[in-house]
Amino acid sequence: MRTGFISVVLLSLAACGQTTVNTGIESGTRVNIPFTPDVSINEVMVAQIDHAAHFIWDAADPDRALADVEWQEAEHHAIQIISSRSALSMGGTGVNDAMWIVQQFWRNYVNQMNVAGLLALSSARAQDRDGLAQAADLLVESCEGCHQQFKPTIPTEGFSHPH
Ligand code: HEC
Repeated sequence: MRTGFISVVLLSLAACGQTTVNTGIESGTRVNIPFTPDVSINEVMVAQIDHAAHFIWDAADPDRALADVEWQEAEHHAIQIISSRSALSMGGTGVNDAMWIVQQFWRNYVNQMNVAGLLALSSARAQDRDGLAQAADLLVESCEGCHQQFKPTIPTEGFSHPH
């Protein structure tokens, strides 16, 4: 069992430098049970990641005062970002999923998104506005970076947002 704070070293792809982010979340015991999700990466993007990210970006708006219940919602959406890491790491039913998940750049972006989720989680729990803003920025970088490199112009399954 590994305890202590997670300090994940991110590869900053644009600058080729390194950034260390202390997310303030402790890691716990892990048991890895191999399985393949019965949904595609495209579906997880639309139905889970996008919703969760939009909530976090809205909550990070500096002009907005968050009520306790909204901090709690931010916490829940951060957990959705963190939990989506499994689907993005294992790949699901999408035609390109297996090809994407084996690539190192893909994994780097998945990790970057996870660090953003962890920082959003610890910030929401501490009701820390600056931390939430930093998490929101990191989150955008992970979406944009990965999309630039991997996202086809038209979603593979035609599955995109109705709004
Ligand atoms: C590790 C890479 C990666 C990360 C990180 C990532 N995406 Fe994606 N995303 C993709 C790929 C690849 C697709 C296209 C999937 C397909 O077409 O099969 C996609 C598709 C989508 C789609 C559906 C297609 C569309 O244009 O409507 C949405 C919405 C989306 N992503 C939102 C996000 C958001 C928001 C974030 C950040 C919070 C994010 N993604 C982070 C790789 C990523």
